[in-house]
Amino acid sequence: MIDPSARCPEWLVDRIIDGGGSISFYSYMNLVLNDPENGFYSTGRLNIGRDGDFCTSPSLGIDFARLLAIQVVDWLFDLEKSGIESELLSLVEIGPGEGTLSRDLIVAIAEIAPALIGKIELVLVELNVGMRERQEKVVNNLEGTNYRWSNIEDLISRPVTGVVIANEVLDAFPVERLVFTENKVFRQGVSLKKINDENFLEFVDLSPTSAIMKFLKDSSSLLNIEFPPKDICNRWVTEWHCDVPSWFRNLSKAVINGSLLVVDYAMESKRYYNAMRKDGTLISYSNQEANPNILKDAGLCDLTAHLCIESTINYALKNGWKFMGETRQGQALLALGLSSFLYSLQNTKSNDLSAALNQRESLLRLVDPMGLGEFRWLAFQKETSNNLILRNRFLEDPIS
Ligand SMILES: C[S@@+](CC[C@H](N)C(=O)[O-])C[C@H]1O[C@@H](n2cnc3c(N)ncnc32)[C@H](O)[C@@H]1O
Repeated sequence: MIDPSARCPEWLVDRIIDGGGSISFYSYMNLVLNDPENGFYSTGRLNIGRDGDFCTSPSLGIDFARLLAIQVVDWLFDLEKSGIESELLSLVEIGPGEGTLSRDLIVAIAEIAPALIGKIELVLVELNVGMRERQEKVVNNLEGTNYRWSNIEDLISRPVTGVVIANEVLDAFPVERLVFTENKVFRQGVSLKKINDENFLEFVDLSPTSAIMKFLKDSSSLLNIEFPPKDICNRWVTEWHCDVPSWFRNLSKAVINGSLLVVDYAMESKRYYNAMRKDGTLISYSNQEANPNILKDAGLCDLTAHLCIESTINYALKNGWKFMGETRQGQALLALGLSSFLYSLQNTKSNDLSAALNQRESLLRLVDPMGLGEFRWLAFQKETSNNLILRNRFLEDPIS
């Protein structure tokens, strides 16, 4: 049945026709987000924040950056102490969105460890021109800080030592959708259906590629999971983050020594590849509304898919990274001192009450187990010298 909200914009009709009448879901997701002229990100149409399409942790105020900066500063000092020769330490943000986290991290580092500011550079790695233009407006006010934009290829040719942050980026990487039905596996595709002279989008089942078959075989043995799981209904759909392995590989070439923090929607393989999860994890977002209809308003919405935790760690290990640890955002922020931020609000003067209440609400949202608090923080280390010891304060027990 065709959904009336799945109207296909003209530019996408052309792409699908050029693709022979159908394209893979992977290509569809890549086009609607990253097509240089029409994609949701590349046009800079995405608007992150309370009045935008959705909130991310940094969009709720500077406190997220202030807490994360405690960990970032530890890592930068550890790198400095380890005797590694490096002109400047780099703070690299991948997929900076509005640029808020990059800016606020520099502000927070200047508060916590002012001596570091002259020794670091901020490097923003953004794929999409429209988002870069938004970032320039936010980051260009940072006086006294070295900052630049780079792409991953340039970083590989001039690798850095430092800290890399990727907050809510990997969930936006295009995924392959895999469909299991009648004892067969298919690669999900997207094609056109014409009704009354109007083009609508619909799903089609395509032959799986050899890469998909390899993913299923490798994942079955790695995760000890059957594909599809037992007792699925007559159609079971899941996702494969096929670009994540090469992302880790490229990043490991771009970093000589340092840490990488991935913060994202993620869940364990047993929950991910579960018979009950029959439509996978993909969701579309716009105007603060989550929608399971992922063909709706193509190019005008964000699309996001959860990461599988074990697969992500495995991709990192195979591509040059050591795993340091993983926890939920709620735990991580408590370990970094979120409760002391809440406590200090008690001393707020009465005329600042409204600001204090807003700040309290934001802090609670960051750790809410039904929301951002459930995000996962996965930390990795890249080590070319053998004596790099990085302290992971965010993994410590918040109670102790
Ligand atoms: C959901 S936004 C994340 C925003 C930001 N990190 C935050 O927390 O507010 C995704 C961002 O990643 C960018 N992006 C998507 N794929 C990318 C890639 N392969 N490399 C770099 N940036 C990418 C998008 O253009 C967008 O700026």
